[in-house]
Amino acid sequence: MILIKNSQTFNALIKEKKAKNLKIGFVPTMGALHAGHLSLIKSARQKCDIVVCSIFVNPTQFNVASDLTNYPRPIEKDIQLLVHEGCDILFHPEVDEIYGNGLVKDSSSDFGSFIHLLEGASRPGHFDGVITIVKKLFQLCEPKEVFFGQKDYQQCLVVETLIQRNFPNIVFNLCPILREEDGLAMSSRNIRLSAEERKISYKIYKELKNLKDNWQTQQWEIALKNAKHILNEAPFKLEYLSVCNAKTFDSIDNFEENAIALVAVQLGNTRLIDNILL
Ligand code: PAF
Repeated sequence: MILIKNSQTFNALIKEKKAKNLKIGFVPTMGALHAGHLSLIKSARQKCDIVVCSIFVNPTQFNVASDLTNYPRPIEKDIQLLVHEGCDILFHPEVDEIYGNGLVKDSSSDFGSFIHLLEGASRPGHFDGVITIVKKLFQLCEPKEVFFGQKDYQQCLVVETLIQRNFPNIVFNLCPILREEDGLAMSSRNIRLSAEERKISYKIYKELKNLKDNWQTQQWEIALKNAKHILNEAPFKLEYLSVCNAKTFDSIDNFEENAIALVAVQLGNTRLIDNILL
């Protein structure tokens, strides 16, 4: 695997590969890689000639300073995992390399109303930061296909919108959520959970699954009410649990096709998100 920190060197190598008609698959990450990320690398490996991964903890998408400071950065371990998975190129720039002119963000305000809901409402400015970095990375990497995990479902819709607008030739791949044995969605943040918190964190998926199981019955509203109660009992603090249309995020009163349940909870000091297509 070739490790590159410089943007120009990275883009020159990409251009070299593209000149040979090689198909570039791209997996952008913030590192602290787990099996979920590695499944994205595997998908890229299956569909593309050259697999590129980026590791960059993007400061402009954090709206809480301590979250950015505490974000895990086990780069040596990440490199080993990527080599093992057969990744070809790792782009791992410093903050100045990307934001030399200051931490200026693009605006996502005209991306559609869905962007202001849920994560958009809970984390003001977050998607502006995501759009800024994803755009820069796509410009440097010039991928044919990109691979994103469904766990960050709203982010996936944001990136799909960005692609429709600015990069119409990129193929977007939505990859399934990988879960621990008890159902907890894999996340780089899970290592921050205490042993006690980890033990009860299975409840998040259990409640989502219960909602799905009841979706086609009259019972789903009761399931939703129960889930909201359970996921707001200490040490859980519920930020949102929303059942809505999976494309528009319009809220749903009655059973309909193409629905999704999305949840964000604070468990102790750790913020966790998850979702399930209903
Ligand atoms: O999902 C992530 O890890 C990040 O939001 C991304 C897409 C790499 C942008 O920083």
